[in-house]
Amino acid sequence: MCGIVCYVGEKEAKAIVLEGLKRLEYRGYDSAGIAVQNGSEIVCLRAVGKISELERKIGERVIKGNSAIAHTRWATHGEPTERNAHPHTDESENVFVIHNGIIENFFAIKKNLEKRGIVFKSETDTEVLAHLIALNFEDSLGEAVRKTMSQVEGTFGIAVIHRHVPGEIVVARRGSPLIIGIGEDGHFAASDVSAMVRYTNKVVHLNDNELAVLTAKGFSISTAQAKTVTRETETVEWQPEDVELGGFPHFMLKEIYEQPETILNAMRGRLEPGEGVPKLGGIMPVWDHLKECRHIEIVACGTSYHAGCVGRYVFERLTEIDVQVEIASEFRYRKLNFPSNTYIIAISQSGETADTLAAIREARRKGARLLGIVNVVGSSISRETDAGVYNHAGPEIGVASTKIFVSQLTILTLLALLLGRHQKLSLTEGVEAIKSLSELPEKVKKTLSQDNHIQAVAEKYYPCSNWLFLGRKYQYPIALEGALKLKEISYIHAEGYAAGEMKHGPIALINPEMPTVAIVPQDSMYEKMISNIQEIKSRRGPVIAIATEGDDRVRQLADEVIEVPPTLEYLYPILTVVPCQLLAYHCARFLSRDIDKPRNLAKSVTVE
Ligand code: M6R
Repeated sequence: MCGIVCYVGEKEAKAIVLEGLKRLEYRGYDSAGIAVQNGSEIVCLRAVGKISELERKIGERVIKGNSAIAHTRWATHGEPTERNAHPHTDESENVFVIHNGIIENFFAIKKNLEKRGIVFKSETDTEVLAHLIALNFEDSLGEAVRKTMSQVEGTFGIAVIHRHVPGEIVVARRGSPLIIGIGEDGHFAASDVSAMVRYTNKVVHLNDNELAVLTAKGFSISTAQAKTVTRETETVEWQPEDVELGGFPHFMLKEIYEQPETILNAMRGRLEPGEGVPKLGGIMPVWDHLKECRHIEIVACGTSYHAGCVGRYVFERLTEIDVQVEIASEFRYRKLNFPSNTYIIAISQSGETADTLAAIREARRKGARLLGIVNVVGSSISRETDAGVYNHAGPEIGVASTKIFVSQLTILTLLALLLGRHQKLSLTEGVEAIKSLSELPEKVKKTLSQDNHIQAVAEKYYPCSNWLFLGRKYQYPIALEGALKLKEISYIHAEGYAAGEMKHGPIALINPEMPTVAIVPQDSMYEKMISNIQEIKSRRGPVIAIATEGDDRVRQLADEVIEVPPTLEYLYPILTVVPCQLLAYHCARFLSRDIDKPRNLAKSVTVE
């Protein structure tokens, strides 16, 4: 989705914001632009395609100036063309604005402005902002932006400069994230911390309906109603090297290999081995109520939704709680009526997914209590939930979510274990769970050591254009996740199915050209999965089995076997997903896909 980065300070701004834009590339975009201010001179350049295209356009041109705004656009209103790329400006080219989000009443505003004789240069909703701010400007850019905020509906994170107000950037938000960065020699604002982590780890989050005026020397925050806001500075844990490849060819592969560490980070300081109970400080403020909880609704999208689907089985195994999982975008269409002991758990890597945010806001309106499992500290979902647990997984740059999935599964298990120990689990069961959780990082490492074998399997099957992924119970969501990973980065068509459903339709597709990935660890579903594999084999379908190490029965049946070490049934998903990720990665690599930035996808989906 769109990205914003700005800088005002003592240094040359162009290089800083271009570097920041590159850190936002992973979010997905189709055009980019920059406006650099030097006194009353503003140079604005825009280009379709990658940031390298923008750099090519800038070429050898010397663009001086200590303040700049820069943007990556992911088209919503109007095609990805240069004239639709941001920054947008007013007729006299005094105001330059970049915008994330959607102005919902743009059509009505545009009609009114056209009646006043204003000629629009783009098809975007954003352009109305530039004209409105210019019309509202008297002598204060902050006030012009404030007035404009009261005239527009929808969502926005914006950054604005004005030819007659050099050395000042005004940023504002409603619904789209914006974070202020405090550097040694100036101030930043960005839609994502990764854009500025190289320069500072001191940040201040802007809330909805707030604006901030940034200068080289300081910043001030106020509400849309002009009330001054004082807010503490936060320190982000992310390091500059977290957003570097560190010798890996792709962020996705780096993040797959980080998973042993990711699981450790999700558990760090949270395990009490002797007592068989995890400690989750983030939920303590609501513990008295949460411990009596008997009903949970999990809302999430994409991979986070699949984590929630695994979570349902884990909660039902370890607690007395009845769990529903809902795709966030569908949640609001349901007749929502929560018993008083209900908690809504929102799962989100970015903490900014618009559908998930909308779902929790709807749940809040209906009086539900909210928990978040979120990776990005200070993100909207983390702030709009009553309590929650952070992943502490560092930034995930690859658009295809990998390490966060295993982190989400780890945290869901810790949460279920904590509640389960309060509700029904014995000390022995708790101790066994914690011991098995502690062994997972080594077991993931062991699974990763089969990477060469998995690559060879991918090399054999990547030309097949249709794949099926099958699993039962805990492994059904892994089948969904395996299929999602394969399709989103390799563009191979893949379906994830509950294995029991195969005979109700998908079996018609089975033929020698269609591989099935059968996820068949030695768990309570083992015999039934074996029958499914036999059904596929008798129709001459190739089977790639993900099985427990040393399983000779599977080895005799399947064409390929990828092994995972044994663990408890409810922890197997943390292991079986790893071969699925690597299979998808290698297929995409054989097909020369743009693995970290697959077409049409965005890392953080901030529009509904
Ligand atoms: O940031 P979130 O976890 O809320 O994102 C949810 C989905 O957009 C995300 O998982 C998406 O499906 C990924 N592309 C999956 O790899």
